[in-house]
Amino acid sequence: MALDDKILELEEKKARLSHGGGEKAIEKQKALGKMTARERIDALLDEGSFHEYDMFVEHDAREFGMQGKVLPGDGVVIGTGTVAGNPIAVFAQDFTVAGGSLGLMHARKITKIMDYALNMRIPLVGINDSGGARIQEGVNALAGYGEIFFRNTMASGVIPQISVILGPCAGGAVYSPALTDFVFVVENVSKMFITGPEVIKTVLGEEISMEELGGARVHSELTGNAHFYASSEAECFGQIRKLLSVIPHNNTEKAAKAVPKAPQQKYDISKAVPVDPSVPYDVRDVIRAITDESDFVEVMELFAGNIVVGFGRIEGETVGFVANQPLVLAGVLDCDSSDKAARFIRFCDAFNIPIVTLEDLPGYLPGIDQEHAGVIRHGAKMLYAYSEATVPKITVILRKAYGGGYIAMNSRHLQADFVFAWPNAEIAVMGPEGAANIIFRKEIKEAEDPAAMRQARIQEYKDKFANPYVAAAKGYVDAVIAPADTRGYVAHALKVAAGKIASRPAKKHGIPPF
Ligand code: HXC
Repeated sequence: MALDDKILELEEKKARLSHGGGEKAIEKQKALGKMTARERIDALLDEGSFHEYDMFVEHDAREFGMQGKVLPGDGVVIGTGTVAGNPIAVFAQDFTVAGGSLGLMHARKITKIMDYALNMRIPLVGINDSGGARIQEGVNALAGYGEIFFRNTMASGVIPQISVILGPCAGGAVYSPALTDFVFVVENVSKMFITGPEVIKTVLGEEISMEELGGARVHSELTGNAHFYASSEAECFGQIRKLLSVIPHNNTEKAAKAVPKAPQQKYDISKAVPVDPSVPYDVRDVIRAITDESDFVEVMELFAGNIVVGFGRIEGETVGFVANQPLVLAGVLDCDSSDKAARFIRFCDAFNIPIVTLEDLPGYLPGIDQEHAGVIRHGAKMLYAYSEATVPKITVILRKAYGGGYIAMNSRHLQADFVFAWPNAEIAVMGPEGAANIIFRKEIKEAEDPAAMRQARIQEYKDKFANPYVAAAKGYVDAVIAPADTRGYVAHALKVAAGKIASRPAKKHGIPPF
């Protein structure tokens, strides 16, 4: 056969294989509002940049009617391509082929591209759309998951790992996304659960839909398993491209520098925070008043809204923001917000991203629910994450900094590099009302006019402690600054800290309060 004919034959083979599970299965996929695996990869990558590997892989399972069964690519597409010109590795499970179920060769393809990604130090994006372990392949399928989980763990903190849930992700399969850094979900498309509705009905006799059990909203708002929520697959791939543009592509690099741009003028930092400490406001307006072009990529926007985390740029350089959100629960720390912040801080630290903390909180959320949910253990994660982080750490106290919250939000005592406070900041063990009630209890009780005495004592406590100068007098606060100077101070601090070298005692690893 002449070379031209062989090339023609190759093209025919590739065309057949790239058609996945065939017309009918593709139609079913489309009817559910889903793209095919290859369409998804094309939507993610720069046009024409995808290079596919292992297209000709075949399974060799024999049991339960598998012998001779043709499963193109064994139900998964792997390869490399570029996003904004930068290389990334990708796999996309193809639900049109045996429900994207994971057999031995399917898993080997995934682990091959994971090894490429780790060895080449490039980000990995995994698109999940699968019925889980291929039931006919038994322990080989389980082995495949184990191999993937191990690699997820090895790659953690070395390359960014992104999981996209675009269909079912059931049973043990959910643990690969759970081990990765960012999980993207899409309304009505994503379904993630350990035991599905059928099992729940059989074992517990309870009826629940897949959506209610583990749909996109559930994981974005309730469980905290998802970091980004989109209303369409196209929007989701746009979000991933955006995220990849602001984070470093491995742990030896810094995020690509952008052209510095001033924040948009509509975000006026001097007016963003009400002086009255009891009046709420949206801390994202403060973030947008500090960041270049007021651009902010918020992570876990729908979960634990009392803390806001995400990436922005200052003078062109990526920073991670951790900010109390007075709009939700007055910005208190609780179990979920501590988990959310701790994980984000660790990502920033692993990937050389300086952390800017904006502080305004009355402390930890009191109550039996929180105590019994383990707020001690969860809250400790945040202390651990801030303490162990060696990237530049800058804190700005906008208003309240009370109690454990003051310490937890990257205080000087956890080795913040720079701590700035606005003139109306209040730094104390607790709010003046609570403090006066405790330390002057006897005096108030015995006074002729207890209410007047309480007010007088509250005022006295406020005058003494509810300001930034007591902390500044001890050097816990480096500078008291006007709100309008915040961007300038933070930008300068980032410049000064750019070459920061901080070491921690040598050890195999610490034991964070997981
Ligand atoms: C083999 C599977 C499969 C699986 C789906 N298929 N899941 N084949 N193993 N796990 C096949 C179906 O037989 C069907 O083949 C095709 O994929 C499409 O599936 P449908 O059921 O027609 O699709 P749909 O109605 O959309 O339902 C999707 C689904 C359902 C909800 C995911 O297929 C399902 O419940 N699958 C089983 C889920 C499950 O229990 N998986 C095992 C989890 S345990 P044909 O030939 O008819 O087109 C697990 C352990 C991992 O994963 C542990 C790791 C630690």
